[in-house]
Amino acid sequence: MPFVITSACIDVKDGACLGGGCPADCIYEGNRKMYINPDECTECGACAVACPVGAAMIDEMVPDEEQDFIKSEELFFSEVLPGRDEPLGEPGGAAEVGKINADSEFVAAYKK
Ligand code: F3S
Repeated sequence: MPFVITSACIDVKDGACLGGGCPADCIYEGNRKMYINPDECTECGACAVACPVGAAMIDEMVPDEEQDFIKSEELFFSEVLPGRDEPLGEPGGAAEVGKINADSEFVAAYKK
């Protein structure tokens, strides 16, 4: 049951969940939002505490209208994103990867 970043992050990307926020360094930066790697998340909840707009939450708390973000978070790491040759998978740390100039298809098309 990993944490998930939902629509409130889109085009906001406050960033408080990074750095001191996430001790697992499993929050990766896309173009429009951050994405939590579901296989690297240790479910500590630091991102949810840090986020000022309530975008980060454990998957079982994601409201019905935001459920697509759970799958979107998985696909960001398991599908080949635009401009890349292979899926991100489990890179083992967001700091080293840096900003990923892509979003999941769902987020790229999301109207806010
Ligand atoms: Fe987004 Fe909140 Fe982090 S807005 S970048 S999930 S602090």
